Amino acid sequence: MENTITAPAAARLRTVASLPGPRPWPLMGNLPNMQLDRIHRNVEQWSKRYGPVFKINIGPVPMLVLADHQLVNAALRDRPDGFRRPSITAEVSNEMGGRPGVFLAEGAAWRNQRRMVMTALAPHAVKAYFPSLVSVGLRLQRRWRQAARDGGAIDLTEDLKRFSVDVIAGLAFGNDVNTIDGGDDVIQRHMDTILPEVSRRSFALFPYWRYLKLPRDRHLDSCVRELDKAVDELIATARVRLAAEPQRREHPTNLLEAMICAADEGDSGVSDVAVAGNVTTMLLAGEDTTSNTLAWMLYLLQKNPAALRKAREEVLRIAPDTAAFTIEQMDALDYLDACAQEAMRLKPVAPFLPLEALRDSVIGDVQIPKGGLVWCVMRHDSISENHVARADQFDPERWLIKGDGAMDKHVSMPFGSGVRTCPGRYLALLEIKLAGAMLLNSFDIASLDTAAGKEPDELMAFTMSPVGLRMQLRDRVA
Ligand code: HEM
Repeated sequence: MENTITAPAAARLRTVASLPGPRPWPLMGNLPNMQLDRIHRNVEQWSKRYGPVFKINIGPVPMLVLADHQLVNAALRDRPDGFRRPSITAEVSNEMGGRPGVFLAEGAAWRNQRRMVMTALAPHAVKAYFPSLVSVGLRLQRRWRQAARDGGAIDLTEDLKRFSVDVIAGLAFGNDVNTIDGGDDVIQRHMDTILPEVSRRSFALFPYWRYLKLPRDRHLDSCVRELDKAVDELIATARVRLAAEPQRREHPTNLLEAMICAADEGDSGVSDVAVAGNVTTMLLAGEDTTSNTLAWMLYLLQKNPAALRKAREEVLRIAPDTAAFTIEQMDALDYLDACAQEAMRLKPVAPFLPLEALRDSVIGDVQIPKGGLVWCVMRHDSISENHVARADQFDPERWLIKGDGAMDKHVSMPFGSGVRTCPGRYLALLEIKLAGAMLLNSFDIASLDTAAGKEPDELMAFTMSPVGLRMQLRDRVA
């Protein structure tokens, strides 16, 4: 059956093959013109040249590229029935022995897991974890106090990653991992190997690993085995704890308990394997995304002193003492929230979202056959003067305007759109405000820049991170 997102006269419909786009090489398509770690930029640059609707070739396969936010929104909202995440990613992950979580699940499995994950990440559930969030914030504050006293330069993305790992590991399993103070997180270590391999294999022209295992492929296999073992142990321990303390079922103390309880509901349709898949999915989806967004936001604040001053004023007025932070204070930090929205408009850590058509469809005036691939460019209209005034400027105020002149929320969609929109959004913004408020009430930023003083490069590795940001802090005297 054909799905028509918009319905222009059939005669005017175009095919993907007929669209303009960069000239493909035989067999390899446009891959020789793309660098995996800058792939978002490659496609964004082409969208400036070829317009909001064009084609690229990943190997021999033509792919429809959408950069117009309304078309992107229409495609994202036509899920789960019209589009899915590309099957190649799930295939590569399954083949590695990965256990699919909600991010890669489709159909009935997705619906069941989505329900479970939404329950575990609902704002009221996240509020129950707030004290452990504050204690990780205080740990980062201690580390940065030490750096301020030593006059040492802080590797910003590295420290913020430790923060988000400790937060998510704490929330996910109730484990106090403490990578901030140099502790090791076995699960994290394995995931750092596995993730880039999923991305590398998804773009590979030939699946050589099916015929020949190189040392890196054997290393990958052992990482997957170790990861599964560690997660299975955590689930078994959580089940023993729930059996010994059944009252925890009423008030789960971490995401893993919440997911096990949701999975145990009679009609959940969710198994322990799916719980395991979703534990790793939470880590995967919730760490680099949050820490890189924080890094971009702090960088942009430092480059815009007026906004930095306003954010600090708000924090000192509403949340002056990290040890006494409350969830209500975090919810009241509207300006800091707007800073996060503005940072995500300019530097979305997921700058593109790929889709695969589940049936013959029409997007705009382009026919897309069942199985056809779509590349949604998430940063095009959001930085265009046609849609956002003074689009290149970091101006958090724009997010606070209500009524006339208010931002069109669909121009910038950092958390995606439709039924598969990010379920961790509330938690992510809470973490961002908590760490941002801690920094602003405790320190002055002496410097936050790259070594060359140039805007940081954007490195695409599952999420888009700033390269080489070093920060120096001074203790704030009240
Ligand atoms: C600033 C931080 C974050 C950003 C920018 C972000 C962004 C995104 C985006 C763009 C998607 C895809 C949405 C779509 O396809 O429409 C997504 C999906 C997802 N995110 Fe986040 N995310 C963040 C933090 C988190 C956190 C903290 C968690 C959980 C701990 C999380 C869990 C998930 C999950 C489970 C999905 C898959 C949902 C599904 O397929 O149904 N994310 N996120």
